[in-house]
Amino acid sequence: MKMLKNKTDRHFVSLSNFSEGEIMQLIETALRYKNQSEREPFSDRYAVNCFFEDSTRTHKSFEMAQRKLGMQVIDFQPSTSSVKKGESLYDTVLTLQAIGIDVVVIRHSEEAYYEKLISSPSIHCSIINGGDGAGQHPSQSLLDLMTIYEEFGTFRDLEIAISGDIKHSRVARSNMQILNTLGAKVFFTGPKKWMADDCDTFGSYLSIDELIPRADVMMFLRVQKERHLPDISQTDAKTYLQTYGLTPQREKQMKKQAIVMHPAPVNRGVEIADELVECSRSRIIRQMENGVFARMAIIESVLKK
Ligand code: CP
Repeated sequence: MKMLKNKTDRHFVSLSNFSEGEIMQLIETALRYKNQSEREPFSDRYAVNCFFEDSTRTHKSFEMAQRKLGMQVIDFQPSTSSVKKGESLYDTVLTLQAIGIDVVVIRHSEEAYYEKLISSPSIHCSIINGGDGAGQHPSQSLLDLMTIYEEFGTFRDLEIAISGDIKHSRVARSNMQILNTLGAKVFFTGPKKWMADDCDTFGSYLSIDELIPRADVMMFLRVQKERHLPDISQTDAKTYLQTYGLTPQREKQMKKQAIVMHPAPVNRGVEIADELVECSRSRIIRQMENGVFARMAIIESVLKK
């Protein structure tokens, strides 16, 4: 993978080059924002959120984070912008910067769309990656790490299972790399045809029934129908749940302190049985809450640079 200069400068596009200390600093900042009402005054700074792919959590929690930090948030809808006239992403960012934007959050279907932006000497505003195709989703990864750290107070030697559609998941790609850096033991499970080529580098494959009684964290992923070939999109939901998902029988076999995570949106009854989405082990809503504070920490870090 190309090394990204993403932590020493003002952009936040991937967690892959972050050290354990740098991650812990971001988590501590996010926890500080969660646990006290004091805010960094960024009222003279402007943000815009450019979402070229659909989003509820990432888009709206970035906006909430910006507002809690006191920033001015400028609306941008690709469908009513000059993107419709053929303006490129690069020229769009150049324009937003010219009118005074400090931070541009971008979600885009093109993997590594940000490389041209962060390597350009003309781009001075901060680029934050809100998800690039099947590439990376670093802000989701940070909120996942924050949620795990809140629960266990460490990553070292935790057994963390990532389950499901790993090949198409930018969340899985971001998490498998950084969890290794932090000393967790990563496992994968799900349909073998949906495992990514680099899974072997970061962990081992086990069946869900081998993982359920030993994992500290069961992290389920959404079946990304929109990124699949038509034949895969017709996967029968009940069969998927029984073969690879969290059923009531499996939930009962989990360790006492083990938790269930999912970046959401959840296909209820596919990855996780409907009645377990909000069960006592589930941290899915906590992940959404933490997303605001993790994103406040990310914005603070880029603005301070
Ligand atoms: N988890 C996540 O990225 O959700 P959204 O697509 O709703 O932003």
